[in-house]
Amino acid sequence: MERLSEENGSNIVLALDFPFEKPEDRRSLLPRANRVLDAASPYLCGVKFNHHLVLPLGTFDGVKSLVEKAHENGLLTIMDCKVNDIGATNQIIAEYYYAAGFDALIANPFVGWEEGLKPIFDVAHRLRRGVILLVYMSHKAANEGYGQTIINRETGGRKLQYVYFAEKALEADADGAIVGATYPEKIKEVYELLGSKVPIYSPGIGAQGGAVLDALKAGSQYLIVGREITVSEDPRRAARKIRDLAKSNL
Ligand code: XMP
Repeated sequence: MERLSEENGSNIVLALDFPFEKPEDRRSLLPRANRVLDAASPYLCGVKFNHHLVLPLGTFDGVKSLVEKAHENGLLTIMDCKVNDIGATNQIIAEYYYAAGFDALIANPFVGWEEGLKPIFDVAHRLRRGVILLVYMSHKAANEGYGQTIINRETGGRKLQYVYFAEKALEADADGAIVGATYPEKIKEVYELLGSKVPIYSPGIGAQGGAVLDALKAGSQYLIVGREITVSEDPRRAARKIRDLAKSNL
């Protein structure tokens, strides 16, 4: 991602998300996703997919073709499936998404390592793909889970949940850590722990209230942007505007 980002002159990852469509209108989703992807591609380094397209189009019927197009356009692809189950299931989820061509997927460290994250990393290492871990989410209630204070039963030591997750991202040598752009102070704290070892990806720009320069100045390396581009009247212009703003921070 670092190399592509340099080559493309962009650290913007497009979240290729669209609003819900009724069955009779769903056929428009794939062409629309193709159009937006092509329009925004010159200003991106990656594309992130979510259930918005996997559910209506299917992983292998529709999304795979978009993953291929993203690759043709010189971009990396991330599946935002927030894997969060027992290891045996996580392994299958990872196998399917990597088989569809995804370069990385997002996983939830709440499941722990043994029979949780480890099977995902095992598959990723075998296939030379990436795993990005949630550290602090972008939405309002993120604090209820990621902001809790946790107590080590053996030592009695206290720690914030997201600090623990950032440490896990380091230990696992994850390919990225997600910290919401809506919480620049959390980005700064996490960046102090991760340094340049694990890059921070920040969703939550624009529609959720996060600001490009605040996130970058706090330590985010990549910005994940969805609706600000995908539902804008001119996705190409919207992507260029965000890319230019992000570039002004370099
Ligand atoms: P918008 O339209 O708000 O889209 O720019 C953001 C995209 O990113 C997802 N999202 C997250 N994914 N951790 C994640 O892994 C997060 O904290 C987070 N916050 C938002 C969101 O579902 C959408 O696809």
